[in-house]
Amino acid sequence: VVPSRMNPGQFYALPQSPQTLKQLLMVSGFDRYFQIAKCFRDEDLRADRQPEFTQIDCEMSFVDQDDVINLFEDMARHLFKEIRGVELPAKLQQMTWHEAMRRFGSDKPDLRFGMEFVELMDDLKGTGTFSVFNDATYIGGICVPGCANYTRKQLDQITDFVKRPQVGAKGLVYIKFNEDGTVKSSVDKFYSPEVLAKVKDTTGAKDGDLVLILSGDNANKTRVQLCTLRLEMGDRLGLRDKNKFECLWIIDFPLFEWSDEEQRLMATHHPFTMPNPDDIPLLDSHPEQVRAKAYDFVCNGIEVGGGSLRIHDSKLQEKMFGILGFTEERAMAQFGFLINAFKYGAPPHAGLAFGLDRFVSIMAGLDSIRDCIAFPKNNSGRDVMLDAPSAIDQKQLDELQLKVDLRQEN
Ligand code: AMO
Repeated sequence: VVPSRMNPGQFYALPQSPQTLKQLLMVSGFDRYFQIAKCFRDEDLRADRQPEFTQIDCEMSFVDQDDVINLFEDMARHLFKEIRGVELPAKLQQMTWHEAMRRFGSDKPDLRFGMEFVELMDDLKGTGTFSVFNDATYIGGICVPGCANYTRKQLDQITDFVKRPQVGAKGLVYIKFNEDGTVKSSVDKFYSPEVLAKVKDTTGAKDGDLVLILSGDNANKTRVQLCTLRLEMGDRLGLRDKNKFECLWIIDFPLFEWSDEEQRLMATHHPFTMPNPDDIPLLDSHPEQVRAKAYDFVCNGIEVGGGSLRIHDSKLQEKMFGILGFTEERAMAQFGFLINAFKYGAPPHAGLAFGLDRFVSIMAGLDSIRDCIAFPKNNSGRDVMLDAPSAIDQKQLDELQLKVDLRQEN
């Protein structure tokens, strides 16, 4: 039973985290496990997130990354064929996290349409008098086909869109490469026609295309903004066809990500993820550069599944906890059962879980997983049918030996 963050003073009943349990199964000698697992998570809700959802969960011993990837890829191929009559390619593409961020600003790129990012630092920084670009550490654009005829009003709408707090860009620069060969941009007074012609070249824009450009002082943040813009333009142009399916694997995630909130490194996937063996020497000196043996299955811009090779060595696992800021005592108190189990000789193992609800919603062309879950929770995490979560009465608390303490944790 865990307290709900969204509904203070109330509780969810949670089963044990399957992650460590399935690893223990491997240590105990089972070499294959799979389960259609009910999962409960108390996290912020979005269109593709519910506190109660279902996974197709799996763990295997003596396998490498490609064994797991191939198994789930075959399952996805079979299901797409049987359910939608769609033939996935014989081998799905694998894209590194860095490449996905550079080309699409996202670790779950929607490949149903183009408009890949084009970096424009060389073309636009220091080549004119536009101080916003001259001060930027990243300038990137997308080429929107056939939209040079956008009106002032349409461009203003898109500018307002990127300036919304949810997107967070300060402004938007556009260049219209008109059908008649003329060029009109929002930065005409800062750049010579030659510079704009260079941008046309770099972006591969044709007459009739519109180039939209964002810049900023944080490359990854600006790429994420450009990603939101790209998806918006994909929607506006009807390019995100629900009957088209573009799947790929994202690999080589960073092992850690920095949390501004916690002021420390956090595990990108979870603390049991194996570092790429080539990067182990970087664990002490440059942990942020270490790649994880982790992989995500992405379809139409949605993360459908995620998994990893696991650490199976107690020393390495202890080191991982150290980097994540666990004291030895806390690591032992929380995960001692796993660290100790590894000491008896754990087989190399790996696993993956597909979100069944997300997979079904994509196959069925639904906008939200709410529409394929029998009793979905609302925006504040409540099941209004069952009125859950709800307060526990004293008798139940006594039975579970729980005491309610509503003081805020620091
Ligand atoms: P992860 O947390 O990436 O990995 O989850 C795997 C998949 O489960 C689905 N999913 C969700 N679906 C709906 N609502 C949610 N709140 C939600 N959270 C996750 C997603 C996601 O890709 N134990 C690891 C797997 C492993 O390493 O084996 C895990 O759970 O589709």
